[in-house]
Amino acid sequence: MRVIFTGLVVLLLYLGYILQPFSLGREHPVSIPLESKGHQYGHQQTLSLPSTAHTQNSPGTGQSAVRHLDCSIDRKHLSSVQQRYGLEDKFRYLKRYIRFHRKPELERKSMTQIPHPFLASEFRTIDIRKEQPKIKCDAPLELDVSDSGFPFTVDASMFMFGVSTTYARLLHADTTPIEEWLFWLTDGYGHSNGAKLILTLLDANDTQLQEVANLLCDAGVDVDVYHSESSMEMAVRYLSLIPTLYNHSQATEKSWLVLCDDDTFFPFMHKLVERFQTYDSSVPTYIGTLSEDVFSVERHGSHAFGGGGIFLSRSLAGIITDLFDSCTTRDKVHESDTGWGPQGDILLRKCIYENTDVRLKTIWDLWQLDITGDAAGFYEWGKQPLSVHHYRGGDWTNAKPVEFTKIAYICGEDCILQRFMTQDGFLISGHSVSYYPDGTGFDWDMVERTMDAMPQDKGWNLDFMFGPQRPSLSRTGKKVAWDLQESQLGEDGSVRQTYTRRWDDWRWMYPDDSPMSNLDGILELIWIPV
Ligand SMILES: *[C@@H]1O[C@H](CO)[C@@H](O)[C@H](O)[C@H]1NC(C)=O
Ligand SMILES: *[C@@H]1O[C@H](CO)[C@@H](O)[C@H](O)[C@H]1NC(C)=O
Repeated sequence: MRVIFTGLVVLLLYLGYILQPFSLGREHPVSIPLESKGHQYGHQQTLSLPSTAHTQNSPGTGQSAVRHLDCSIDRKHLSSVQQRYGLEDKFRYLKRYIRFHRKPELERKSMTQIPHPFLASEFRTIDIRKEQPKIKCDAPLELDVSDSGFPFTVDASMFMFGVSTTYARLLHADTTPIEEWLFWLTDGYGHSNGAKLILTLLDANDTQLQEVANLLCDAGVDVDVYHSESSMEMAVRYLSLIPTLYNHSQATEKSWLVLCDDDTFFPFMHKLVERFQTYDSSVPTYIGTLSEDVFSVERHGSHAFGGGGIFLSRSLAGIITDLFDSCTTRDKVHESDTGWGPQGDILLRKCIYENTDVRLKTIWDLWQLDITGDAAGFYEWGKQPLSVHHYRGGDWTNAKPVEFTKIAYICGEDCILQRFMTQDGFLISGHSVSYYPDGTGFDWDMVERTMDAMPQDKGWNLDFMFGPQRPSLSRTGKKVAWDLQESQLGEDGSVRQTYTRRWDDWRWMYPDDSPMSNLDGILELIWIPV
């Protein structure tokens, strides 16, 4: 499945530099700059829409089609990676096959120790401008995983999701959730997973609504698309999703009506379904999560924060539908403004709390992720978050859920964000591959405090949700990581994950500001079934 982002232009100017290869040892590499280097990046992205966005291969059944391992250097591909992620012509490169064994008796652990080294061969220095010698593959790293479900085994028919966004956001390359929806609303092969999506769009005419509906339906999303009333206050528009969902002809078949943002992602759909089976949807029920930032709760109040997903039983949605007019008066909208403009999720809490005895039930595995800076600590934690949010950068953090969840198509849902620590100090987490040159003696149950709170970080804002956190390893010289950039499901039933690292990444510096490596890096993991 591919949405192809085209038109990415990267200009790399000639680098007058003598480069010392990245050494995984502890000595500081030496760089001798001869001239100043000038990087210029011109990014222009346009979205080309997926029609039936999926590859033709059959669902992952554990049948291996990968007959031979290929470690020859694909210059065309690597040169495209190098250019798209702004890497220099010369970089350190490693391609590593990982062969997973799905074992029925195995349980997913937060951290799995692998009694083998990650590195069988060293990283190689590649100059992409030059011909490369042929390389022999090392034997794959062997891993055992549980036999968890695949995206095509999800039955999410208990849910009806409601999202309100704008036409422009929906189709802009930087903000489009379409490929994300293909993961958590379809089986990955062009059919719905049973979940219904109600999408309301602002600033779209009928032609555009139809275009969006066709696009999503062709890709397998069971969706109805509606106009959104631009005359309404944003917070009221948000609340009006509830009557829209509740009045829908299919609502009676659903247990849970769910409000979420266009940057809410559900990585573990089997787990989400399992969790909601434990609640009684026949009674009025309001489920969600708080902000992770204690000051955000102080500022806005104690309610389900919208980005983590707000789950209403159908009966509660019916009560809110009846109360809709009295809950959205001018006064109520005014009261839902805590200084950041009227908020829909506050308006919803007030509607429920002021009119019923229903109170919030929390699921701490849903995440609003009101954090900024580097989210690595969270995604490298080995957890199975039921929702994630705020991963598209800007004021918040960056992560690539579409890319880190593709492994589920062949390895099963449990393989998403699963941690494997090798004998030689490499941690594979799916968000990144990280290396700890001074050893791995950290408390791996604790979150690494790579992220910050915003706007006011007292150091302990996040403790009530994350627990106390271990100090960040950025700029200590004790950690270096390659970040996941992209992931492709191959025709042969393999998944290729491409991770990159820039030598000048502010995180991978020694305390004296010298870089841990003078060369950029590309690391490819090719996951193959037994
Ligand atoms: C809808 O908007 C698009 C883009 O502005 C325009 O090209 C098209 O003619 C409009 N269609 C209708 C029916 O108004
Ligand atoms: C939902 O149905 C109720 C009762 O039939 C009606 O009063 C209300 O206008 C409807 N709302 C929407 C958004 O369709």
